[in-house]
Amino acid sequence: MNKITIAIDGFSSTGKSTVAKQLAKHLGYVYVDTGAMYRAVTFYAMKNGLIDNTDFNAEALVYQLPNIELSFKFNKALGFAEVYLNGVNVEKEIRTLEVSSFVSQVSTISEVRLKLVEQQQKMVKDKGIVMDGRDIGTVVFPKAELKLFMTASAATRAERRYQELTERGDTVSYNAVLQNVKERDYMDSTRKDSPLVKADDAIEIDNSNMTLDEQFKKILQLVKMTIEDCE
Ligand code: DC
Repeated sequence: MNKITIAIDGFSSTGKSTVAKQLAKHLGYVYVDTGAMYRAVTFYAMKNGLIDNTDFNAEALVYQLPNIELSFKFNKALGFAEVYLNGVNVEKEIRTLEVSSFVSQVSTISEVRLKLVEQQQKMVKDKGIVMDGRDIGTVVFPKAELKLFMTASAATRAERRYQELTERGDTVSYNAVLQNVKERDYMDSTRKDSPLVKADDAIEIDNSNMTLDEQFKKILQLVKMTIEDCE
């Protein structure tokens, strides 16, 4: 069977990574979570004093970019690859609301994007890849055979993120999560470099009223049709 590249873009907490992981497992593809890469760079900036309350030293971060090495290692027990920052697993540290509240600012820096996009493009060796993010179908893989654009209402997405954070023991309020979701939507879709936009040839999936199973079945059907078209 032909292998394809699947690009999944969309707003935060639209379930991109959930469906990407399901697809990768089912098809035996590699899954790459590009949001984790922007989050890891943000975590580096926080840990190295480049972000202090509301102040963010973008110039210093650009200067220190050569010191940032990101990699993924497959975790068999979890069934997906975890992100490493300079050799240290930071999968848990990058999912906090604090990182979420700075990551959109860090993602506006062109030098950061250039570095990460270059690394992402090198990850495709012989197709068979599912990558999710904000600019995958528009910038990273404009020729991807299948492009999906995921949406859901802000309230639905905040509820999902709130559940996720509280389940792992973080103390957060629903309103703070909702505000973060809305702020990131705005910043991600209005930034100058590679804003979040639906590629002309992307298929939009609004999953506000879909179960995970319904969504997976629908998307798997799209994947199968695309693979058949490529044969
Ligand atoms: O998918 P996520 O919520 O973990 O992504 C975190 C942030 O990273 C998101 O708000 C914007 C940024 N991002 C980006 O600019 N480009 C990508 N390809 C992936 C994420």
